[in-house]
Amino acid sequence: MLSVRPADPMAIEEAAARLARGELVAFPTETVYGLGADASSGPAVAAIYRVKGRPADHPLIVHVADAAQAQWWGELGAQGLALAQAFWPGPLTLIVRRSAQAPGFACGGEPTVGLRCPAHPVALALLRAFARLGGHGVAAPSANRFGRVSPTRAAHVAADLAAHAAGALGLVLDGGPCEVGLESTIVDLSRGAPVLMRPGGVAADRIERVLGCPLLPRDAQAPRASGTLAAHYAPRTPVELVDGDALAARLAELAGQGRRAAAWCRHRPDAPGSAHWEQAEDDPALFARDLYDGLRRLDALGLDRILVERLPAGAAWDAVRDRLERAAATFAGSA
Ligand code: TXA
Ligand code: MG
Repeated sequence: MLSVRPADPMAIEEAAARLARGELVAFPTETVYGLGADASSGPAVAAIYRVKGRPADHPLIVHVADAAQAQWWGELGAQGLALAQAFWPGPLTLIVRRSAQAPGFACGGEPTVGLRCPAHPVALALLRAFARLGGHGVAAPSANRFGRVSPTRAAHVAADLAAHAAGALGLVLDGGPCEVGLESTIVDLSRGAPVLMRPGGVAADRIERVLGCPLLPRDAQAPRASGTLAAHYAPRTPVELVDGDALAARLAELAGQGRRAAAWCRHRPDAPGSAHWEQAEDDPALFARDLYDGLRRLDALGLDRILVERLPAGAAWDAVRDRLERAAATFAGSA
């Protein structure tokens, strides 16, 4: 049975003990909920892949209590240390070459490891409790089925994974809604010049200011990263991105075809009929915080189409735009 429990100190201790026994635990981070396992245990990490339904060659992020614990997994180097100092605990994942002692179960066959120290108090308490039990780090992808919308509430995790937990996942720590709402920024430091693998919770220009050099865009040879697949983060209802001033016409067109659609945008579209409308936030950080919960709520309405307003240009919207384009890619690819 999968139980969802408030993340009080007793539940956190129990969660750490479960991790040490090789069980899975889902826990909140400031970005999204993670599906955690002892990163040093082959069978525990294998259970993550099973419960999530994720291809085995997609590496996981190893979560650590601090930069010192990260150094056990791989040499952060001067750039990594500077970034860890500036942004950890926080929504930044660093990819570095794996140390000789670090097991590669979570690394999808790569000679590198992705490391992150999360800022959520529950995640940090869990990582520290696990370290006291002798653990080195907690491998955790987002706690959703592969390809789907990441969870930003404990209830999302239960809805996605209860049917697949199969005895491996018994506990979800409930730490409330995630504040950032989008996954961490991923920077690859293992290939010489730093590469931005995924935009996310820390804006790229802040990272560039600390490094004193530009981040390169990721190239086609980059190792597989699930979050960088063209179609990902997708609800079941097809998502379509539409310019704000074309939304009303598109809603009318779909209604004319007998299709039921919802619109998620910052201003009520002047559309006839009964299209469902939800107000999106004007501020990029608040938009990001609500994105996955909003997509899940609209998905649950069982409509034919979710229309989301195409977002403004500008770096502040990069991470949200990235996720929405991937959420819409399945539809774009089939249209
Ligand atoms: O905010 C986050 O990053 C959340 C929370 C739970 O920490 N985690 C998350 O994990 O988004 P996941 O597994 O859904 O996405 C992690 C991404 C994947 O696309 C994975 O392929 C990439 O990080 N990654 C991890 N280690 C890597 C490595 N050694 N080389 C290349 N990519 C790596
Ligand atoms: Mg994910």
